Amino acid sequence: MQVSDVVEEFRGLDWDGPFPKEALARAGDALEAGKLLYFPDLAFRLLPGEEIFLDDAVSDHSRKNVSFDPITGQLGATTLAGAEEKKLAAMLDRFGRQARALLVGLVPNYEIGLERARTSFRPVEIAGRPTSPRHDDKRLHVDAFPTRPMHGKRILRVFTNIAPNDAVRRWEIGEPFTDFAEKFLPRVHNPFPGTAWFLERIGLTKGRRSPYDFLMLGLHDKGKLDLAYQREAPRVKLGFPPGATWMVYTDQALHAAMSGRFALEQTFHLPIERMLHPERAPLRVLERLAGRPLV
Ligand code: SIN
Ligand code: FE
Repeated sequence: MQVSDVVEEFRGLDWDGPFPKEALARAGDALEAGKLLYFPDLAFRLLPGEEIFLDDAVSDHSRKNVSFDPITGQLGATTLAGAEEKKLAAMLDRFGRQARALLVGLVPNYEIGLERARTSFRPVEIAGRPTSPRHDDKRLHVDAFPTRPMHGKRILRVFTNIAPNDAVRRWEIGEPFTDFAEKFLPRVHNPFPGTAWFLERIGLTKGRRSPYDFLMLGLHDKGKLDLAYQREAPRVKLGFPPGATWMVYTDQALHAAMSGRFALEQTFHLPIERMLHPERAPLRVLERLAGRPLV
């Protein structure tokens, strides 16, 4: 595997355009092929006074990230309060809007149907951060949410590195989704009948898990817990320096975040009907492999 297999690079762009035709032609197709779009010279600019947030003491360390809910305007897992909390919320909101402008500018098809989910601030150094194997994002994985069933909807994430020093965010990208799924799908067991109903009933999931959600969680866990796979699987190592931005379908591209601190991230959800190539969605890939409908 080489960098050009997994990365599509864009230079000289701004968050809200103008976007050259050449960039539009490449962006949507590459994203939906599972590639990472890389913007080495697209920085998120802090406003005067916002540098004070570049301190991991803004995280209360109860969760991996400080998060902003664009619907309620609430900030979670932070030690900040009052005016400072509002200022950090405004910064995350600004990033989320810019991330959306960039994405729909490059893939205008997504304008309708794209949902902005949480924005996160990731001030804590990844390397050496204690985690359980299942929560360890230093292991190659595809994203799947235990509490939020997606029913096939896509997970797309936009990241930017805002570290004040030269702290590069280091990632690895693994093999194509289909190759990964072919290996691990036979090892994922069906849930006991009634599990989806029960999880919803006791409030562990928001809505009911579909067979797709069970399989994606199964792939996430089996992949992370297979030490031989983690050691030997093909991968490409990437480094994102401060001032760089990148976006990728994290439910499709196998990824691992190895080190770095001070990133911003915006999550989007997209119904597969809004994709340029819906047949490339993990839902459709898994349905082909499983030979049955999964939602
Ligand atoms: C992940 O999605 O696995 C983590 C990415 C990151 O924080 O850089
Ligand atoms: Fe992830």
